Amino acid sequence: MKVLATRRYPGPAFEELRDAEVGSLSAPRDGVEAVIVANEPVPLDVLPSLLLVANFGVGYDRIDVAACAARGVAVTNTPGVLDAATADLTLALILAVRRRLVEGDRLVRSGAWRGSWSEGFLGRDVTGATLGIVGLGRIGSAVARRARGFELRVLYTQRTRIETDLGEFRELDDLLRESDVVTIHAPRTAETDGLIDARRLALMRDGACLVNTARGEIVDEAALVRELVSGRLHAGLDVFAHEPDVPAELLELPNVVLTPHIGSATVETRAAMTRLVVDNILAFERGEPLLTPVAP
Ligand code: 8YV
Repeated sequence: MKVLATRRYPGPAFEELRDAEVGSLSAPRDGVEAVIVANEPVPLDVLPSLLLVANFGVGYDRIDVAACAARGVAVTNTPGVLDAATADLTLALILAVRRRLVEGDRLVRSGAWRGSWSEGFLGRDVTGATLGIVGLGRIGSAVARRARGFELRVLYTQRTRIETDLGEFRELDDLLRESDVVTIHAPRTAETDGLIDARRLALMRDGACLVNTARGEIVDEAALVRELVSGRLHAGLDVFAHEPDVPAELLELPNVVLTPHIGSATVETRAAMTRLVVDNILAFERGEPLLTPVAP
Protein backbone atom coordinates (compact mmCIF):
# COMPACT_ATOMS: atom_id res chain seq x y z
CA MET A 1 0.00 0.00 0.00
CA LYS A 2 1.40 3.39 -0.94
CA VAL A 3 1.42 5.54 2.21
CA LEU A 4 2.11 9.26 2.43
CA ALA A 5 2.82 10.74 5.87
CA THR A 6 2.89 14.48 6.54
CA ARG A 7 5.95 14.00 8.77
CA ARG A 8 7.95 11.21 10.40
CA TYR A 9 5.67 10.17 13.23
CA PRO A 10 7.38 9.35 16.55
CA GLY A 11 8.08 5.83 17.78
CA PRO A 12 9.40 2.58 16.33
CA ALA A 13 6.10 1.51 14.69
CA PHE A 14 6.54 4.13 11.95
CA GLU A 15 9.55 2.18 10.62
CA GLU A 16 7.24 -0.78 9.88
CA LEU A 17 5.78 1.23 7.02
CA ARG A 18 8.86 0.61 4.91
CA ASP A 19 7.65 2.33 1.79
CA ALA A 20 5.99 5.28 3.46
CA GLU A 21 6.84 8.57 1.83
CA VAL A 22 7.12 11.67 3.98
CA GLY A 23 5.93 14.82 2.28
CA SER A 24 3.33 17.46 1.77
CA LEU A 25 -0.27 16.73 0.86
CA SER A 26 -0.68 19.76 -1.35
CA ALA A 27 0.98 18.55 -4.59
CA PRO A 28 -1.02 16.10 -6.72
CA ARG A 29 -0.22 12.54 -5.62
CA ASP A 30 -1.12 9.72 -7.96
CA GLY A 31 -1.18 6.27 -6.46
CA VAL A 32 -1.27 7.30 -2.78
CA GLU A 33 -3.73 4.96 -1.05
CA ALA A 34 -3.30 5.99 2.59
CA VAL A 35 -2.28 9.25 4.25
CA ILE A 36 -1.15 9.81 7.82
CA VAL A 37 -2.04 13.26 9.11
CA ALA A 38 -2.16 15.08 12.45
CA ASN A 39 -5.63 16.59 12.09
CA GLU A 40 -4.63 18.39 8.89
CA PRO A 41 -7.24 18.87 6.17
CA VAL A 42 -6.92 16.23 3.45
CA PRO A 43 -7.24 17.58 -0.12
CA LEU A 44 -9.21 14.72 -1.66
CA ASP A 45 -9.07 16.29 -5.13
CA VAL A 46 -5.28 15.78 -5.43
CA LEU A 47 -5.38 12.23 -4.04
CA PRO A 48 -7.40 10.26 -6.61
CA SER A 49 -6.36 6.79 -5.35
CA LEU A 50 -6.93 7.51 -1.66
CA LEU A 51 -8.64 4.79 0.41
CA LEU A 52 -7.66 5.57 4.00
CA VAL A 53 -6.95 8.63 6.18
CA ALA A 54 -5.18 7.58 9.39
CA ASN A 55 -5.27 10.47 11.87
CA PHE A 56 -2.52 10.74 14.48
CA GLY A 57 -4.74 12.07 17.26
CA VAL A 58 -8.15 11.47 18.76
CA GLY A 59 -9.62 14.77 17.52
CA TYR A 60 -10.31 14.95 13.79
CA ASP A 61 -12.21 18.23 13.53
CA ARG A 62 -10.15 19.46 10.55
CA ILE A 63 -10.79 16.31 8.53
CA ASP A 64 -13.96 16.33 6.43
CA VAL A 65 -15.19 12.88 7.40
CA ALA A 66 -18.43 13.26 5.43
CA ALA A 67 -16.54 14.12 2.23
CA CYS A 68 -14.23 11.14 2.82
CA ALA A 69 -17.25 8.84 3.29
CA ALA A 70 -18.84 10.16 0.10
CA ARG A 71 -15.63 9.24 -1.76
CA GLY A 72 -15.44 5.84 -0.05
CA VAL A 73 -12.37 6.87 1.97
CA ALA A 74 -12.18 5.37 5.47
CA VAL A 75 -10.91 7.46 8.42
CA THR A 76 -9.27 6.25 11.64
CA ASN A 77 -8.11 8.09 14.78
CA THR A 78 -6.23 7.22 18.00
CA PRO A 79 -8.71 7.13 20.90
CA GLY A 80 -7.79 5.65 24.29
CA VAL A 81 -4.00 5.67 24.12
CA LEU A 82 -3.67 9.36 25.02
CA ASP A 83 -6.24 9.61 27.83
CA ALA A 84 -3.76 9.30 30.70
CA ALA A 85 -1.22 11.76 29.26
CA THR A 86 -3.89 14.36 28.55
CA ALA A 87 -5.48 13.91 31.97
CA ASP A 88 -2.04 14.25 33.60
CA LEU A 89 -1.43 17.52 31.77
CA THR A 90 -4.86 18.75 32.87
CA LEU A 91 -3.99 18.15 36.51
CA ALA A 92 -0.59 19.78 35.94
CA LEU A 93 -2.31 22.91 34.58
CA ILE A 94 -4.80 22.99 37.46
CA LEU A 95 -1.97 22.74 39.98
CA ALA A 96 0.20 25.24 38.09
CA VAL A 97 -2.54 27.87 37.92
CA ARG A 98 -3.94 27.43 41.45
CA ARG A 99 -0.45 27.38 43.04
CA ARG A 100 1.07 30.03 40.73
CA LEU A 101 3.86 27.71 39.70
CA VAL A 102 5.04 29.43 36.53
CA GLU A 103 4.82 32.89 38.09
CA GLY A 104 6.88 31.64 41.03
CA ASP A 105 9.44 30.08 38.75
CA ARG A 106 9.80 33.39 36.90
CA LEU A 107 10.24 35.27 40.18
CA VAL A 108 13.00 32.97 41.36
CA ARG A 109 14.79 33.11 38.01
CA SER A 110 14.54 36.90 37.88
CA GLY A 111 16.59 37.21 41.05
CA ALA A 112 13.90 39.46 42.58
CA TRP A 113 12.83 36.93 45.22
CA ARG A 114 13.58 38.25 48.71
CA GLY A 115 12.64 35.16 50.75
CA SER A 116 9.42 33.52 51.85
CA TRP A 117 6.90 35.92 53.33
CA SER A 118 3.67 35.03 55.07
CA GLU A 119 1.31 37.32 53.20
CA GLY A 120 2.82 37.04 49.72
CA PHE A 121 2.43 34.79 46.72
CA LEU A 122 -0.76 33.17 47.87
CA GLY A 123 -2.40 30.71 45.52
CA ARG A 124 -5.65 28.86 46.00
CA ASP A 125 -6.17 25.38 47.42
CA VAL A 126 -6.62 22.53 45.00
CA THR A 127 -7.69 20.12 47.73
CA GLY A 128 -11.38 20.57 48.47
CA ALA A 129 -12.09 22.80 45.45
CA THR A 130 -14.96 22.06 43.08
CA LEU A 131 -13.92 20.80 39.63
CA GLY A 132 -16.39 21.05 36.74
CA ILE A 133 -15.68 18.65 33.87
CA VAL A 134 -17.21 19.53 30.51
CA GLY A 135 -17.41 16.17 28.73
CA LEU A 136 -17.07 13.01 30.82
CA GLY A 137 -15.74 10.78 28.03
CA ARG A 138 -12.51 8.84 28.17
CA ILE A 139 -10.25 11.82 28.95
CA GLY A 140 -12.78 13.57 31.22
CA SER A 141 -13.21 10.35 33.21
CA ALA A 142 -9.42 9.98 33.56
CA VAL A 143 -9.36 13.53 34.96
CA ALA A 144 -12.20 12.69 37.39
CA ARG A 145 -10.30 9.64 38.67
CA ARG A 146 -7.17 11.74 39.27
CA ALA A 147 -9.28 14.43 40.95
CA ARG A 148 -10.24 11.95 43.66
CA GLY A 149 -6.64 11.82 44.81
CA PHE A 150 -6.71 15.59 45.28
CA GLU A 151 -10.03 15.38 47.15
CA LEU A 152 -11.68 17.64 44.60
CA ARG A 153 -15.47 17.68 44.47
CA VAL A 154 -16.31 16.69 40.89
CA LEU A 155 -19.24 17.95 38.82
CA TYR A 156 -19.68 16.99 35.18
CA THR A 157 -21.81 17.96 32.25
CA GLN A 158 -22.38 16.46 28.84
CA ARG A 159 -25.15 15.97 26.33
CA THR A 160 -26.45 12.81 27.92
CA ARG A 161 -26.51 12.32 31.65
CA ILE A 162 -24.97 8.99 32.66
CA GLU A 163 -25.02 6.79 35.76
CA THR A 164 -21.58 7.28 37.28
CA ASP A 165 -19.86 7.63 40.60
CA LEU A 166 -17.16 9.86 39.05
CA GLY A 167 -19.09 13.08 39.69
CA GLU A 168 -22.47 14.77 40.02
CA PHE A 169 -24.30 15.84 36.87
CA ARG A 170 -25.06 19.53 36.32
CA GLU A 171 -26.43 21.44 33.36
CA LEU A 172 -23.53 23.40 31.81
CA ASP A 173 -24.60 26.81 33.16
CA ASP A 174 -24.98 25.45 36.70
CA LEU A 175 -21.61 23.71 36.47
CA LEU A 176 -19.98 27.01 35.46
CA ARG A 177 -21.64 28.84 38.38
CA GLU A 178 -20.59 26.24 40.97
CA SER A 179 -17.03 25.32 39.94
CA ASP A 180 -13.70 26.73 41.13
CA VAL A 181 -12.01 25.04 38.18
CA VAL A 182 -13.67 24.20 34.85
CA THR A 183 -11.90 21.81 32.49
CA ILE A 184 -12.92 21.05 28.91
CA HIS A 185 -12.82 17.51 27.52
CA ALA A 186 -15.37 17.62 24.72
CA PRO A 187 -14.61 16.97 21.07
CA ARG A 188 -14.86 19.95 18.74
CA THR A 189 -18.07 19.56 16.75
CA ALA A 190 -20.70 21.89 15.31
CA GLU A 191 -22.41 21.79 18.74
CA THR A 192 -19.33 22.52 20.84
CA ASP A 193 -17.78 25.22 18.63
CA GLY A 194 -18.01 28.42 20.71
CA LEU A 195 -19.84 26.53 23.49
CA ILE A 196 -18.11 28.51 26.25
CA ASP A 197 -19.13 31.95 24.99
CA ALA A 198 -19.00 35.37 26.67
CA ARG A 199 -22.30 34.83 28.50
CA ARG A 200 -21.14 31.50 29.88
CA LEU A 201 -17.69 32.80 30.87
CA ALA A 202 -19.49 35.53 32.82
CA LEU A 203 -21.25 32.80 34.84
CA MET A 204 -17.92 31.56 36.21
CA ARG A 205 -17.02 32.52 39.76
CA ASP A 206 -14.63 35.41 40.43
CA GLY A 207 -11.15 33.91 40.65
CA ALA A 208 -12.20 30.64 38.98
CA CYS A 209 -9.86 28.87 36.59
CA LEU A 210 -10.61 27.59 33.08
CA VAL A 211 -8.44 24.76 31.77
CA ASN A 212 -8.55 23.78 28.10
CA THR A 213 -6.65 20.79 26.73
CA ALA A 214 -9.31 20.00 24.09
CA ARG A 215 -9.69 22.54 21.28
CA GLY A 216 -9.33 26.32 21.38
CA GLU A 217 -12.42 26.85 19.24
CA ILE A 218 -14.69 25.47 21.98
CA VAL A 219 -14.13 28.72 23.89
CA ASP A 220 -14.81 32.25 22.58
CA GLU A 221 -11.13 33.17 22.75
CA ALA A 222 -11.64 36.95 22.51
CA ALA A 223 -14.14 36.86 25.39
CA LEU A 224 -11.78 34.70 27.45
CA VAL A 225 -8.93 37.15 26.81
CA ARG A 226 -11.12 39.99 28.16
CA GLU A 227 -11.89 38.01 31.35
CA LEU A 228 -8.21 37.19 31.81
CA VAL A 229 -6.96 40.73 31.12
CA SER A 230 -9.44 42.05 33.70
CA GLY A 231 -7.95 39.54 36.16
CA ARG A 232 -11.37 38.11 37.05
CA LEU A 233 -10.58 34.62 35.78
CA HIS A 234 -7.46 32.47 35.63
CA ALA A 235 -6.62 29.92 32.95
CA GLY A 236 -4.42 27.02 31.95
CA LEU A 237 -4.44 26.77 28.17
CA ASP A 238 -2.86 24.05 26.05
CA VAL A 239 -4.91 24.80 22.94
CA PHE A 240 -5.80 27.97 21.03
CA ALA A 241 -8.25 28.98 18.33
CA HIS A 242 -5.54 29.84 15.75
CA GLU A 243 -2.52 27.68 16.60
CA PRO A 244 0.32 28.40 16.72
CA ASP A 245 -0.85 32.00 17.20
CA VAL A 246 -1.58 32.95 20.79
CA PRO A 247 -3.40 36.20 21.62
CA ALA A 248 -0.66 38.75 22.39
CA GLU A 249 -2.56 40.02 25.46
CA LEU A 250 -2.01 36.67 27.21
CA LEU A 251 1.76 36.70 26.98
CA GLU A 252 2.41 39.02 29.90
CA LEU A 253 -0.44 37.93 32.17
CA PRO A 254 0.45 36.35 35.50
CA ASN A 255 -2.93 34.60 35.84
CA VAL A 256 -2.49 32.37 32.77
CA VAL A 257 -0.31 29.31 32.17
CA LEU A 258 0.29 28.57 28.49
CA THR A 259 1.52 25.29 26.99
CA PRO A 260 2.07 24.43 23.29
CA HIS A 261 -0.62 21.76 22.63
CA ILE A 262 1.24 19.03 24.51
CA GLY A 263 -1.65 17.00 25.94
CA SER A 264 -0.47 13.80 24.28
CA ALA A 265 3.19 14.78 24.05
CA THR A 266 5.07 12.11 25.96
CA VAL A 267 7.50 9.62 24.44
CA GLU A 268 5.31 6.68 25.49
CA THR A 269 1.98 8.15 24.41
CA ARG A 270 3.16 9.44 21.05
CA ALA A 271 4.72 6.01 20.34
CA ALA A 272 1.41 4.35 21.22
CA MET A 273 -0.44 6.75 18.91
CA THR A 274 1.89 5.88 16.03
CA ARG A 275 1.48 2.17 16.86
CA LEU A 276 -2.32 2.53 16.54
CA VAL A 277 -2.02 4.53 13.30
CA VAL A 278 0.22 1.83 11.80
CA ASP A 279 -1.95 -1.04 13.08
CA ASN A 280 -4.97 0.54 11.38
CA ILE A 281 -3.06 0.76 8.09
CA LEU A 282 -1.81 -2.85 8.38
CA ALA A 283 -5.34 -4.07 9.17
CA PHE A 284 -6.66 -2.20 6.14
CA GLU A 285 -3.97 -3.73 3.93
CA ARG A 286 -4.92 -7.23 5.12
CA GLY A 287 -8.60 -6.58 4.53
CA GLU A 288 -9.31 -6.87 8.27
CA PRO A 289 -11.66 -4.60 10.24
CA LEU A 290 -10.11 -1.24 11.20
CA LEU A 291 -9.17 -1.03 14.89
CA THR A 292 -10.43 2.48 15.53
CA PRO A 293 -12.58 3.69 12.64
CA VAL A 294 -14.24 7.10 12.75
CA ALA A 295 -17.95 6.76 12.05
CA PRO A 296 -19.01 8.95 9.11
C1 8YV B 1 -2.56 16.03 18.41
C2 8YV B 1 -4.63 16.07 19.66
O1 8YV B 1 -3.10 15.17 17.49
O2 8YV B 1 -5.32 13.83 19.84
C3 8YV B 1 -5.65 15.00 19.61
O3 8YV B 1 -6.81 15.32 19.35
O4 8YV B 1 -4.95 17.20 19.61
C4 8YV B 1 -3.18 15.73 19.75
O5 8YV B 1 -2.91 14.46 20.18
C5 8YV B 1 -1.09 15.86 18.45
O6 8YV B 1 -0.62 16.88 19.22
C6 8YV B 1 -0.44 15.93 17.09
O7 8YV B 1 -0.64 17.15 16.50
